[in-house]
Amino acid sequence: MMKVLLINGSPHKNGCTYTALSEVAKALNNNNVESEIIHIGMKPIQGCIACGKCYESGKCAFADDLYNNLYEKIQEADGIIVGSPVYYAGPNGSLCALLDRLFYSASRFMTNKPAAAVVSCRRGGASATFDRLNKYFTINQMPVVSSQYWNSIHGNTAEEAKQDLEGLQIMRTLGNNMAWMIKTMKNSNEKLPQREERVATNFIR
Ligand SMILES: Cc1cc2nc3c(=O)[nH]c(=O)nc-3n(C[C@H](O)[C@H](O)[C@H](O)COP(=O)(O)O)c2cc1C
Repeated sequence: MMKVLLINGSPHKNGCTYTALSEVAKALNNNNVESEIIHIGMKPIQGCIACGKCYESGKCAFADDLYNNLYEKIQEADGIIVGSPVYYAGPNGSLCALLDRLFYSASRFMTNKPAAAVVSCRRGGASATFDRLNKYFTINQMPVVSSQYWNSIHGNTAEEAKQDLEGLQIMRTLGNNMAWMIKTMKNSNEKLPQREERVATNFIR
């Protein structure tokens, strides 16, 4: 069975972000796609210190349980969805700390995997947050799955988020589209795109 990994980047285990991700998960399950929501928790999360150790080992030098768990789960997942609350018009800092390390060290497992971001806010900054999260996917050749709007839900509490009927519909549409995308890719006989050796010119010329 195909599986989608959903990351809840909020400190609230069952808050608005979770409410949005759960609606996506329901739609995935209705399409016979398995899902798992991993919560980033409330403990401090180490950011990337640019030590470069992952270049040699393929893994982050800070091997905490959350990182290790996601490092494994990402390899098994057919698709990835990242959910975040909006903090000052951007994703939660703890989530970015985690994603910086995860994407920098494990991008080889991300390439070609369909992905989407989902955000939750009380009032404003949703689309800026959505854009920032999509940057992780679009630098890694991940097909971005879309919905009928920029994936956001509004509310300060889970109860409020559940009243955002349009937000919930956006999540279900996203789940349906993600299921369609991973199944379509799985059933395709087309070879993966040709990839050139990477060039990096660091803006020096
Ligand atoms: C530090 C902090 C900053 C926030 N900044 C914003 C913001 O810029 N715009 C907004 O609409 N809501 C903001 N909020 C509210 C949350 O985005 C909102 O309550 C969100 O739905 C919470 O999701 P959760 O229940 O999954 O944590 C902020 C909340 C916190 C704690």
